[in-house]
Amino acid sequence: GKDKELIRNSWESLGKNKVPHGIVMFTRLFELDPGLFNLFRYKTNCGSTQDCLSSPEFLEHVTKVMLVIDAAVGHLDDLHSLEDFLLNLGRKHQAVGVKTQSFALVGESLLYMLQCSLGQAYTAPLRQAWLNMYGIVVAAMSLGWAK
Ligand code: HEM
Repeated sequence: GKDKELIRNSWESLGKNKVPHGIVMFTRLFELDPGLFNLFRYKTNCGSTQDCLSSPEFLEHVTKVMLVIDAAVGHLDDLHSLEDFLLNLGRKHQAVGVKTQSFALVGESLLYMLQCSLGQAYTAPLRQAWLNMYGIVVAAMSLGWAK
């Protein structure tokens, strides 16, 4: 329907530039919760958040996140086919100390990135469409925390 169209159209150009958009998203996330930065225990010498934001390992994670979003956008008609993958992804995040509550801030950061890049095309229905999809992804990942 309309939601899927809004998501696919908006992702078309964004998805071609994953890393820069992912950096905008994670820069925002660390502004909202600087503590999350400590969960990335890479063996790089990070003097500052800015150093870390440009470290190869961190950029790899940014790319990984964007590829998951890309997969979700590509599977809008059958998101349930990603459930096992997302459950396992959730487990891995539980293991590295991520809390499910942090996903709300990740969602806010995703919307912030969309707003920055889409400008006037960032409308209330578009925002809601993305929130719906993100909610499905987070719900599936969150099952990885279930005991
Ligand atoms: C792996 C942290 C959110 C996708 C990891 C790792 C850490 C981490 C420490 C392991 C090291 C690495 O692979 O770089 C976080 C934190 C997040 C977050 C602190 C926000 C609170 C997300 C989100 C997604 C995602 C929202 C995608 C929707 C991935 C993927 C991997 C990964 C695909 C690789 C898993 C594997 O090795 O199979 N994350 N992450 N992360 N993360 Fe995240």
